[in-house]
Amino acid sequence: MDIEKNKATLILPEKEINLTVLTDNMGDRSIDITSLRKETGYITYDPGFVNTGSCMSSICYVNGEQGILRYRGYDIEDLVEQCDFVEVAHLLVKGELPNLEERHLYAEMLNRHSLLHVDMRNFFRDFPQDAHPMSILSAMVASLSAFYPEIADVDPEENVDLTVSRLLSKMRTIAAFSYRQMNGLDFVDPSYKFSYCENFLNMMFHTSVNAYVPDPLHVKALNTLLILHADHEQNCSTSAVRLVASSDANLYASVAAGCCALWGSKHGGANQEVMQMLLEIHAQGLTIEEVIAKAKDKDDPFRLHGFGHRVYKTYDPRAKIAKRLCRQILDSETHTDPLLKIAMELEEVALSDPYFIERNLYPNVDFYTGIIFHAMGIPESMFTVLFAMGRLPGWIAHWLEWRHDPYQKIGRPRQVYSGPHVRKVSPLEDR
Ligand code: ACO
Repeated sequence: MDIEKNKATLILPEKEINLTVLTDNMGDRSIDITSLRKETGYITYDPGFVNTGSCMSSICYVNGEQGILRYRGYDIEDLVEQCDFVEVAHLLVKGELPNLEERHLYAEMLNRHSLLHVDMRNFFRDFPQDAHPMSILSAMVASLSAFYPEIADVDPEENVDLTVSRLLSKMRTIAAFSYRQMNGLDFVDPSYKFSYCENFLNMMFHTSVNAYVPDPLHVKALNTLLILHADHEQNCSTSAVRLVASSDANLYASVAAGCCALWGSKHGGANQEVMQMLLEIHAQGLTIEEVIAKAKDKDDPFRLHGFGHRVYKTYDPRAKIAKRLCRQILDSETHTDPLLKIAMELEEVALSDPYFIERNLYPNVDFYTGIIFHAMGIPESMFTVLFAMGRLPGWIAHWLEWRHDPYQKIGRPRQVYSGPHVRKVSPLEDR
């Protein structure tokens, strides 16, 4: 393949074709292969879509080599310093940061839609108490379309704002209720008195015998962590949302698919895995060298959880912020957390080990977030649920962007077939 400024020439045994080279707003180039199969009969083979741009998007910019993450042009550090999660949700979903009045209206709308239909509340009680909260979350988000079917009934455009704010608001309530269900506790309704993050913590931790008083540092930590998770362009769960959306599925169904994709240990489930790994190292008294050797051993399926990233080949900018926050939270505690010490030693040894250096493996966002959640009293099984709450505005923004994409098509990759040629079915008794 030869690439000139705006044109790439593909030389195949049968023919030669010109393909357009696109240069995006940041100067990155891609080859437009939309006409490839039609013109040549060939398809491309790209497991994991590592080299494939599936859409054009203006929501999030990630530069994995330089460790840059921006939402709609704003640097993640800047957003964390200046905004709370509701403002960032507004930015992602509506395209701009809100002014004071818009901020107030948005927060009020989120409060107004935060209650759950009474039948939906009852629905929670039928889950076994040991159900993973991600299974409750994904099922409940999918069932929102049964309880709030307007989006399927009338012109979706009229209902988009309503549906989006319902989802942003109710998913927080669902997340908190899944924790209460897991712990056999009565549900605590959202309250007008609290901000978005305070409300969530109150719904999680308030009991009639132990009134919850918001800890400003915990509220700040939750805001920060939700912002850090709010979007990350075409990651596995966001791609799942877009793929489901491409069949014209409604927002709730598409987001439920995102929750399921996020659950896996190579994606949003990694924060839980990091915590379990740190607890295990502590409980078994493993040395850092033993853990690193295990992670490097190709015969051992163990990976150093919270390390490595498909896109970041340098330090994940979110991990830098999480590490700082982690220190701040733990400095405010009276006890020192041995898990932080283990995490920092692991990081130090890994970052100077040739195996990790050669493969550009750095801590990712999940490496420190688990320790922060742990310090806030949030159990491991809820970590991915919190990740999902944070990622929600991103999923919604991508769902909306897909709806307005003039080039939208149902997602339908091809394959390189590796099965048998044609065969005849023998009668059952001869098989
Ligand atoms: N520990 C040890 N070795 C690793 C790790 C790790 N955490 N991550 C990657 N490697 C090695 C692989 O074994 C492979 O080695 P090889 O070239 O000798 O075969 C090489 O690094 C490249 O790894 P891939 O899996 O091909 O990289 P990919 O980009 O496909 O995967 C992923 C990225 C899934 C995140 C991977 O690094 C991983 O499994 N990390 C641990 C899980 C994790 O922390 N996930 C959270 C990601 S962030 C997020 O979702 C928010």
